[in-house]
Amino acid sequence: MTSIPKMIIDTDPGQDDAAAILFAFGLQNQKLVDIIALTCVAGNVPLHYTTKNARIICDWADKQNIPVFAGANKPLIKTLVTAEEVHGKTGLDGVPLHEPQTPLQTEHAVSFLIETLKKAQPNSITLCPVGPLTNIAQALSMAPECIQAIKEIVIMGGTFFEVGNITPSADFNFFVDPHAAKIVLQSGAPITIIPLDVTHKACLSIKRVQALRDLPNQNGTRLADILQSYERFDTQKFGLEGGPLHDPCAVAYAVFPELFKGKEVFVDVETCSELTQGASVVDWWHVWGKPKNAFWVNEIDDEQFFSYLTRAIATLP
Ligand code: RIB
Ligand code: CA
Repeated sequence: MTSIPKMIIDTDPGQDDAAAILFAFGLQNQKLVDIIALTCVAGNVPLHYTTKNARIICDWADKQNIPVFAGANKPLIKTLVTAEEVHGKTGLDGVPLHEPQTPLQTEHAVSFLIETLKKAQPNSITLCPVGPLTNIAQALSMAPECIQAIKEIVIMGGTFFEVGNITPSADFNFFVDPHAAKIVLQSGAPITIIPLDVTHKACLSIKRVQALRDLPNQNGTRLADILQSYERFDTQKFGLEGGPLHDPCAVAYAVFPELFKGKEVFVDVETCSELTQGASVVDWWHVWGKPKNAFWVNEIDDEQFFSYLTRAIATLP
C-alpha cells in the first residue's frame, strides 16, 4: 500500500490556482493526498492579494486548519509582472470575496519550507509550485540539504512545443522569475514539469463547466463562476472552446501520474535575452548530451482529468 503524497502547494492565486487548491482539498477529503500547507508568492497578482486569496479559498473549503504562509513579494532579480488582465484586480474575479477567517502564519514561507524539509523524512514531501518559482529557489539556495526530503517537485510552468502565453516564447511562471526557474532546474531535485505543452490539452468546455455547476454544493457553482470568468480571456486570446486549466494539472499529476505521458530531458531557462527571457529550452533529442534534469509532460487523458476534478470538488461544502 503506497502512502498518500504529503504536499505543499506554492501558489499565486489566481483563478486556475484556486481551481488547483480546491481540487487538492477535495482529494484530501478523498484521502488521496495530505496537504501540509499553502505557501504564497507574488505572480498573477501582488503578494497581499495572493495571500488573502489563499486564505479565502481555505475558508471556502472549510480548511481553516491549513497553514498559509506569505513568501516572496517580487522575483529574485526582475521587477514583478502581474496578470490582472487575466485574473482580475483581486486575482479572483468572478465571485464575491469575503474577509478571510483562515489565519496567516507569521513565519515567512521560505523559512517554513526550509524548516519543514530539514525535519522531514527522506523523499517524503511533494512540492507543487504553480506560480513563479521564487520561494522554491530561495529555499533550495539557502538550504540545499532540503533536497533529501523532496519526493518530487511538480512544477506548473514552461513551454516548448506549445508557444508562450505571456511572450511568444515563455509561459507566465517562468517569465516572471526566470532566474528562480533556472536555479530550481539546476538544483538536482527530482523535477516533473507540467508545461503549456500539456495544459493546453486540458481545456475547459461548456460541458465541463456545466458539470461543476450541476454539483449540489456551493463550491461547484463557485468554481464554475470563477472558471467562466477565467476562460473569457483564453477563448478570446487562444480561440479555444475553453481556456486551458493549467494549475490543476500539476495537482493531478502528483496524485494520478498514470493520466500523463512525457519524457526525461535536459531543460534550461533563458535568463539573459531580452527577446526570449523565461523560455524553457528542452533538449528533446538529447543533442547536447547533458544530464537529464526533468520529466517533461506533454500528454494527458483530459476526460479522466476533468472527471477526477469534478468528483473531488463534489466532496467540498
Ligand atoms: O502560464 C500559466 C501559469 O501562469 C499558471 O500558473 C497561471 O496561474 C499563471 O500563474
Ligand atoms: Ca498560478
